[in-house]
Amino acid sequence: MPDYARIYARQEYLTPGAARTVGIISERVRPDDGTCLLEMAAGKGEAAAHLAGEFACRVVAVEPYDPFVHIAAAKFWHFNLRDLVTLVRANGRRLPVRGESMDAAYCIGAPSIVGLDPALRELARVTKPGGRVIVSDIAWRAKPEESLGPEWGWMAEATPTTAGEYRAAIEAGGLTVEEVVTHPREDWEEYWRPMLEVAAEAKSATSSGGADVFFADEVEGDVEIERRGVEAYLDYVTFVARK
Ligand SMILES: C[S@@+](CC[C@H](N)C(=O)[O-])C[C@H]1O[C@@H](n2cnc3c(N)ncnc32)[C@H](O)[C@@H]1O
Repeated sequence: MPDYARIYARQEYLTPGAARTVGIISERVRPDDGTCLLEMAAGKGEAAAHLAGEFACRVVAVEPYDPFVHIAAAKFWHFNLRDLVTLVRANGRRLPVRGESMDAAYCIGAPSIVGLDPALRELARVTKPGGRVIVSDIAWRAKPEESLGPEWGWMAEATPTTAGEYRAAIEAGGLTVEEVVTHPREDWEEYWRPMLEVAAEAKSATSSGGADVFFADEVEGDVEIERRGVEAYLDYVTFVARK
């Protein structure tokens, strides 16, 4: 597995446009101190910290990857949010939460990683009737005419899903899609910038562990491939749905 903790060392959000998606959650859900939110795949806990810190709402934040669980736990402690945010190490496919117990549920950048249909099913299951389910993810603007070769990195292995197909998957889970927001290109650039800084640092022989040109080349190569992917095929999209 790639060393995600190192690759993402200089960023709190691990998804293009995550801050914009959190803004959409704030506007559509309008949480207050009586609201309980479920976050699937919380990463470093930045969205949960932001929402609990701004609105004093409760958040159940679910994340299975140990390094991110530790970072998120430290963040909630540091910002004195432990009364509001419950961090649970669990798989998004089986949320340890009762059905219809959450006012809203969201998953930023990860339903397709968790598994699109099981993730959507779980988000819908835990949300109260009438509550919002908000997800963001990669959607393919155009599908390649032929299968992609290895020069396309992770995209060669991916099953392309268009925004229309994604919307249909959400609606098949019993939710009504109210809004579809395609993120601007700058959200991708903002997402790559800190990774490229990590790569530049790794190249420098003065960094603490000495130069790591192999790691730096890998990160820069992956960003380059993804940038070509965005030019040709990929969008980032936030879907707002209601149960
Ligand atoms: C692209 S990151 C997004 C993290 C966070 N939502 C953000 O935007 O900063 C994907 C996250 O999904 C988590 N993840 C992977 N498989 C998962 C699963 N089966 N259930 C829950 N989370 C999972 C990873 O550990 C990682 O934190």
